[in-house]
Amino acid sequence: MQVYLDNAATSHPKPECVVKAVVRGMTELNCNPGRSGHDRAIAGAMALMSCRESLAKVLGCDDAMSVAFAFNCTDALNLAIKGSLSYADHVVTTMLEHNSVIRPLRTLEAQGMISLSIVEPNEEGIITPNAIRARLKRNTRLVAVTHASNVTGVIQPVAAIGKMLADTNAAFLVDGAQAIGVLPVNVKYLGATMYAFPGHKGLLGPQGTGGVYIDAGFDLNTVREGGTGSSSELTTQPRERPERYESGTVNLHGLAGLDAGANFAMENELTIRSHERALVEQMQRGLSQIDAVTVYCAGDVRNRVGVVSFNIGDYSSSAVADCLNRAGIAVRGGLHCAPGTHITLGTLERGAVRASVGYATSAGDVEKLIKEVHNIAGNGLR
Ligand code: ALA
Repeated sequence: MQVYLDNAATSHPKPECVVKAVVRGMTELNCNPGRSGHDRAIAGAMALMSCRESLAKVLGCDDAMSVAFAFNCTDALNLAIKGSLSYADHVVTTMLEHNSVIRPLRTLEAQGMISLSIVEPNEEGIITPNAIRARLKRNTRLVAVTHASNVTGVIQPVAAIGKMLADTNAAFLVDGAQAIGVLPVNVKYLGATMYAFPGHKGLLGPQGTGGVYIDAGFDLNTVREGGTGSSSELTTQPRERPERYESGTVNLHGLAGLDAGANFAMENELTIRSHERALVEQMQRGLSQIDAVTVYCAGDVRNRVGVVSFNIGDYSSSAVADCLNRAGIAVRGGLHCAPGTHITLGTLERGAVRASVGYATSAGDVEKLIKEVHNIAGNGLR
């Protein structure tokens, strides 16, 4: 059986309740919710509301209407970024961001719309509030920071950054891709104006789902317009939130599954977190003991999500990932769509091997990885 250590890319396996809920979404519930008024459409709309309420609970916010569905975290980030900026705005972001943050920002910069400052992490892979503060300008309208690096797993001090930004004009966008479902999130405590998240990672739901929390007092321009099932007499986009941001048929089948996944993640939150921490500790310790291995940003597991990146000697990370795959272990090599992080680690050329655990990973799985890495370090790539 394959050992799956690529949960940062997508969580696997999905809990049985998620699979069942998707099937129910495609059979019992199947309809276009929020459009027609028949019983089936009403049942579908209620299922959507249930998912919205579950997500609000995960996000620690009491208003489900502050959660807009998206098709994935990238989609949510595009709305948050492009919807909140206008001409001559300045944005502060970080070297740790995924391309889903940096590419929309670079696109707006290339169009001459915004200017951009990019903050470096310290030696521990952390973006400090002071480093952000030093780059703020009078026209800074947005600060975008990842909650946890998808390469090093290091958790960022987003609550302290949010607090520091509270008396500025800048909106605060947190990319929760690696954090949602595995770290406690409370958008008010974090001071987040927007919190973007995928459904298929820590929330254990299907792909094609995700969303964004948008503070009730914060107005975003839309990036996708069309039918919402509301105010249909208008030929302009309606103001009502959250459907204002959700034009087109939503992914009811997927969101039914996400509702089940979010509840599974919430019910097992503490167990999953301590399980993942123990696995990360085991992995950091085991890998660091192998002479030829470099583990990046190894440190206190309380400040890590379930992600560990490493290299063996001077081997290419993709060659090592291929070798591990042949040994029955699924990891991700390369740059993980986060080139800035690899610049800071000095690994832009060869990337790193990333092993990421989940609720279903066992200590035996991690042991198998450590043994195979030992093997490669001692006997070379086969
Ligand atoms: N963003 C995902 C990752 O880090 C796909 O692998």
